[in-house]
Amino acid sequence: MTAPAFDTVGSAFAPDAVGRTVRLRGWVLRSRSSGGILFLVLRDRTGSVQVTGRRDVLGDATFDAVEHTQVEGALEVEGTVHEDRRAPGGREVRASRCTVVHAGEPFPIFAEQTEEFRLDKRHLVIRSQEHVATFRLAAELLRASREFLDREDVLEVTAPELSGNAAEGGAEAFQIDYFGRPGYLSQTAQLYLEALLFPHERVYTMTHSFRAEKSRTPRHLTEYLHLEVELAWCDLDGLIGFIERMTESVLHAIAERRPKELTLLGRPPEELFAVRAPFPRLKYAQAIERLAAAGFPVRFGSDLGTAEERALTLEEKSPIFVTHFPRELKAFYMLRSPGDPTTVEATDLLAPEGYGELVGASCRETDVAALVERIRAVGADPAEYEWYLDLRRHGSVPHAGFGLGVERLLRWILRREHIRDTTPFPRTPARHTP
Ligand code: 4AD
Ligand code: MG
Repeated sequence: MTAPAFDTVGSAFAPDAVGRTVRLRGWVLRSRSSGGILFLVLRDRTGSVQVTGRRDVLGDATFDAVEHTQVEGALEVEGTVHEDRRAPGGREVRASRCTVVHAGEPFPIFAEQTEEFRLDKRHLVIRSQEHVATFRLAAELLRASREFLDREDVLEVTAPELSGNAAEGGAEAFQIDYFGRPGYLSQTAQLYLEALLFPHERVYTMTHSFRAEKSRTPRHLTEYLHLEVELAWCDLDGLIGFIERMTESVLHAIAERRPKELTLLGRPPEELFAVRAPFPRLKYAQAIERLAAAGFPVRFGSDLGTAEERALTLEEKSPIFVTHFPRELKAFYMLRSPGDPTTVEATDLLAPEGYGELVGASCRETDVAALVERIRAVGADPAEYEWYLDLRRHGSVPHAGFGLGVERLLRWILRREHIRDTTPFPRTPARHTP
């Protein structure tokens, strides 16, 4: 026996659907009844449609069962598609048969509940139209990134998320007990990508990174999705060009493929089409001058935090690159600038309108002795990086790479106040459940 075939809600809106019989299954978005007629809106992954059911057609038992089905209860419906100007989208399905799959309990989510309550009930809140649109966009972002990387002949690889090294610096690493030895949750896949670069030349990975940042800011998660790319034979110009092309390509793909979701979430697709490479570049030293002129108490060597990045980008319409950071501010593996030992060949891509850092990127140090010196300088033990140092002993070549925070990019695309709105189950210092 074959399983019964079902149609999607979307198929009820096809040009030739009027008059056809469809079999739908999905969840109740809203329902009411009056005068022996049920009006409900049924949703599935393709959208929502009004369904009407008459007591004299369905019979008392079915009518009563459907009437008692709660919001978010599940139904199967068979009926005919009709034009109806009063129905959302201009179509309705007049039910000839209905089956209650699960009547459900009263759905606890309403408008005007506190943010804390909504975070406690995140597993149910993610059914909302806004969340559905957000995570369709997120999926498109990942798809468009993968397509771009595939076109650029960059190979997708995997890297461990558990490690004996804390790559980006011990302070923000989550330490775990690894059978009696210290272990860390990965802050970056970079060191592994660098190893994989020698056999493959161009590699990327899309994995979670973990940061034990206690600071509660609207742009930090403790677990985030990290798209990391590592390219052999690449210098700072090549790296910047690659990041620009990828950003433009991803934004345009989203605007082209998800205009409905963007519009629903208040971001006109044209604005994403308007973002075009090349993006402005600014040296760190110039950024400091600008900030000092704006009254910030900064000098060469000061870190650019949330407030500084906000000030630098508030008036910008395009993302901007900040380049050539002081060596002391940055990780041990970054290459010193040729001709200037105080800076490194690194760049951050900052989103405009105050949103700030999206990408951290750099050329990597290729010389063993220089690396050992930097590892010591940041207070780490070169012995722990022995395997990484090996990479510089066998065919060490110029290479560069970057990491992009996926939720950060989505936050800017959707102009969300808080980064938690861009991930289904946000991990912040205050919560790691549900
Ligand atoms: O600038 P970061 O720390 O760079 C690295 O980890 C490099 N090893 C990446 C590489 O070159 N392969 O992190 C990269 C990006 C940041 O620009 C930011 O977008 C994002 O990761 N990010 C975070 N996103 C959300 N929450 C956090 N706590 C984040 N920390 C970094
Ligand atoms: Mg960074």
